[in-house]
Amino acid sequence: MSPTDHPVGTTLTRFLAHELAQREGEHRAIETLLAGVARACQRVSDLVRRGELAGVLGAAGSENVQGEDQKKLDIIANDVFIESLEQCGSLAAMASEEMDAHYPIPDAFTKGDYLIAFDPLDGSSNIDVNGSTGTIFSIMRAPDVRVATDQDFLQPGRDQVCAGYCLYSSATMLVLTLGNGVAGFTLDDSAGEFVLSHPSMRVPASTSEFAINAAYQRHWYPAVTRYIDECVAGESGARGRDFNMRWAGSMVGDVHRILCRGGVFLYPMDAKLDAVGQQGKLRLLYEANPMGLLVEQAGGRAHTGTMPILDVVPDELHQRVPVLMGSVEEVDRLVDYHQRG
Ligand code: AHG
Ligand code: MN
Ligand code: MN
Repeated sequence: MSPTDHPVGTTLTRFLAHELAQREGEHRAIETLLAGVARACQRVSDLVRRGELAGVLGAAGSENVQGEDQKKLDIIANDVFIESLEQCGSLAAMASEEMDAHYPIPDAFTKGDYLIAFDPLDGSSNIDVNGSTGTIFSIMRAPDVRVATDQDFLQPGRDQVCAGYCLYSSATMLVLTLGNGVAGFTLDDSAGEFVLSHPSMRVPASTSEFAINAAYQRHWYPAVTRYIDECVAGESGARGRDFNMRWAGSMVGDVHRILCRGGVFLYPMDAKLDAVGQQGKLRLLYEANPMGLLVEQAGGRAHTGTMPILDVVPDELHQRVPVLMGSVEEVDRLVDYHQRG
């Protein structure tokens, strides 16, 4: 059975029960884990919607391990995920963009066969302006259930068991892949449940829409400069058609748009990142891998410019990578320009 076989209106609970019942092994553990993820997303969604009334806006006055200023909601969302998942019985450990090292499931709770890596609140700069934000998660098998290490999380994205995101925007949506397509669920606040609204999300192969932060133009390398110059030249340039640009400031918002109507999302390597020794801005385990799996499962492509994102073997928990993802024809063109140097 694939996501398309489920009728619109199916609850997430029912969808997971049907989808996972056909899988051998520990399907119950994944079902329980994803139910916990959905509950956590609902709690974060509730806080995002209440905004200032819930006292969640503004800075926390601290920095995360990557040297970024934390917002109150970055920390609150991280705590919500830990509280919602540590007793689910399916996990050996969790890792988060907002925590220095992995969080082992305390001995007091039952441990399970899986690991989860998450970006609890993506698009932090949008929180205080009521813009779109999200949560991104990646689930993988735990090599050793008894003693988890940071090393256990260093698996290529291709090995993810499932991945998804929750978008907190005009509607709250949970978008998920279990490795056989991509399904989108909309939160029905009145029923308190996610309901299947987008049974089969596909990224069209061609597009005329790109997403990049153009403020960094002066730092771009030639492949990106050439690609964007050609898009901007429009009908009278090498591409022979006009392009449109969108930048949500939240990867979840931008990738969601691409899963709905196509497009290409770029957070490439540039000279400024190079100068400070960073291999990109976006995090491999919490952002690039889960979003890369979703995009590939929806028929799109996810690449660093050098190799497919999902083939990168991580060497540290908070590793960053360049990101080019979305419609196949555009990502292929970008990769070609990268290969030409
Ligand atoms: P986060 O809020 O989790 O740190 O992620 C923000 C990411 C991503 O969501 C977004 O596409 C990008 O950073 C925006 O970066 P710029 O501010 O450099 O445009
Ligand atoms: Mn993020
Ligand atoms: Mn974040």
